[in-house]
Amino acid sequence: MNLNAFISKAATPVNFITSWEAPSNIALIKYWGKEDIQIPKNPSLSFTLSSSVTKTSVNFKPSNSENFDFDFFFEGILRPDFNPKLVTFFKNIEYYIPWINGYKLIIKSNNSFPHSSGIASSASAMAALSLCLMDLENYLFPKMSEAFFYQKASFLARLGSGSASRSIQGPVTIWGENKTLKNSSNLFAISFGDGLNKIFKSYQDTILLVDKEAKSVSSSKGHDLMHNNPFAENRFIQASNNLDSLLSVMKSGDLESFIKIVELEALTLHAMMMTSNPYFILIKPNTLEIIQRIWSFRTSQKLPICFTLDAGANIHLLYPSDYKRRICAFIDHELKPFCQNGQYLMDQVGEGARKL
Ligand code: DP6
Repeated sequence: MNLNAFISKAATPVNFITSWEAPSNIALIKYWGKEDIQIPKNPSLSFTLSSSVTKTSVNFKPSNSENFDFDFFFEGILRPDFNPKLVTFFKNIEYYIPWINGYKLIIKSNNSFPHSSGIASSASAMAALSLCLMDLENYLFPKMSEAFFYQKASFLARLGSGSASRSIQGPVTIWGENKTLKNSSNLFAISFGDGLNKIFKSYQDTILLVDKEAKSVSSSKGHDLMHNNPFAENRFIQASNNLDSLLSVMKSGDLESFIKIVELEALTLHAMMMTSNPYFILIKPNTLEIIQRIWSFRTSQKLPICFTLDAGANIHLLYPSDYKRRICAFIDHELKPFCQNGQYLMDQVGEGARKL
């Protein structure tokens, strides 16, 4: 897709208020490594979540100055400490939304999941904010198609945080060029489309909160370290191949293959961290304890349960909804003791963002 298609025109500022809810997502094929600016080194695929969401409202106020300004409130409190990340985001997208100049934005954001739970909120937050921006762009230039609305929302969100591009639509999205998907792009995420096996539309994700502290190494730093990782080039090839395999598995519903690919991706992500220079480890002893217990339970009970990890110590436990009752009992008896304060969050695959 041509980058120029995403450049909007300038317009006279109007007073406008909008609110959107955008979900978090969990990658099954991991994005780890990128080029300027926010172009992934390999394609990634994720489940869009349902309950873990950010709600954002934006009041666009025409201001007297030619410049653009904003105030950001998180959970009701003015939070200037978020400004640097937002300033970078607005700098990245200003070229594509020139109408933004001449506004003062009042941005108010809330997360459904507990703050400092170790769950990254940048994906859902950047997605919700991008949708608010697109809502005004749609009002200013009403001829926009629905497809373009969501595509550009994903495009803008990507420029805030790569994984945010996958938090616009559901239930499964793919970001990054891939030879089997003609409309795939490095610039925005696309929905899996037709043919997704029914079993994945209600897949469960129980997030086991092993460590709720802020990560010792940020995702940005981790991506950056891939530039010098000696295994990086093979990793990018492996991710593309894993995506090809997973795409057909997600049509067939072959859970044995699903489990193999998903766990391999999770462990390879962390292997990349351990082989970076400087190396680092984000998983904790309890992460490994839980993984061992999942494997034993899977073997003894013959249930299709597996795990994935994001850039942290928490475990995402993935399983079909049909086994929810039995797996919840397993979580309570065997896994909960290894979660910080016994905490976990129940979530499942969702349909994507919505206007409030
Ligand atoms: C491990 O999207 O948080 O969760 O683009 O620098 O904001 P930035 O990185 P981010 O990286 C996500 C990494 C991951 C894997 C994934 O979600 O694909």
